Amino acid sequence: MENQQLTQLLLDWFAQNGRDLPWRYKGGAHPNPYIVFVSEMMLQQTTVKTVIPYFTRFIQRFPTVQDLASATDDEVAKYWQGLGYYSRARALLHTAQTICQIYDGHFPQIESEVAKLKGFGPYMTASFLALAFNQPQTVIDGNVMRIMCRMFGLTQPLDEIQPKIRQYAATLASKTHPADYASAIMDLGATVCTPKKPLCVLCPWQKYCASNGRADIEQIPARRSVSKKEYNGFVFIICNAKGQIYIRKRSEKGLLHGLYEFPWNTATPDWLSDVSASENYVTHVFTHIKMKLQIVYASAAKAPNDGFFVLPTQLTDYPMSTLMQKVCRYIKITKARSTE
Ligand code: ADE
Repeated sequence: MENQQLTQLLLDWFAQNGRDLPWRYKGGAHPNPYIVFVSEMMLQQTTVKTVIPYFTRFIQRFPTVQDLASATDDEVAKYWQGLGYYSRARALLHTAQTICQIYDGHFPQIESEVAKLKGFGPYMTASFLALAFNQPQTVIDGNVMRIMCRMFGLTQPLDEIQPKIRQYAATLASKTHPADYASAIMDLGATVCTPKKPLCVLCPWQKYCASNGRADIEQIPARRSVSKKEYNGFVFIICNAKGQIYIRKRSEKGLLHGLYEFPWNTATPDWLSDVSASENYVTHVFTHIKMKLQIVYASAAKAPNDGFFVLPTQLTDYPMSTLMQKVCRYIKITKARSTE
């Protein structure tokens, strides 16, 4: 079968079975590139199920690129809180400002210009141009890689066969309906060619798939197992005499920049008094590391000048990482217990 016939089979399947998603448009270019921009930024590294409520809230608050461009860093971070990978939120705001200031509120359509926007790596550039402007692009995400490996029987570890995957993906990508094709292949990966228990009988490519009927299909694509490095440390709940808790804003550079946090470290700062260790921990798995922080209560009369004290009820006003939100939940629970 010719590649473009396979492409058509998938497009026909999509017309019948494509998901209705809040950012989804079927039948060509999305009429609003801003919607594509926000949703694709959110969907990088995050599941559709998680993104839906975030996307809805975000678009209610920032319905246009101009609304977003005039927001503060802190407010955008608040609407992003819990999605992880916070540098994306910063890039989102930065790019919205670029679009308003340099491009008069209209997204560029030239690939070399789009690729220069903050937050636009190869995936984002390709998916944005395909979905927003119906440009023929080869969009390659985890779904596409899995489908290509299974379809063409590529069983080597993923990191060894990227050029081959790109080649196969490019031959199947639609030249005539790139926007629908990009959505279609994502939906096929999310609903049929799933990592576990794929539903091959529902697949429009079943007859042509090299992995159809293979008992080890769940092991395709092959992955190298990388063990995550573990870090142990302490997080300090520092109270003053008014029952307020000390927080500080992370610097504008580096991991989780611009978010608020309780001090945490692998060593105890010397300006603390009355340190008492508890048996309680919060743990969180980041992309490459596991973090386990022991919760330590302490008191201090005066805040060091890199932060400030807030009432426990005010903690929700400050954008925090998922790890620090776990600490907040922990404080809430122990506070509730102590007043029972
Ligand atoms: N994953 C990345 N982009 C997506 C989209 N537009 N729809 C569904 N899943 C996606």
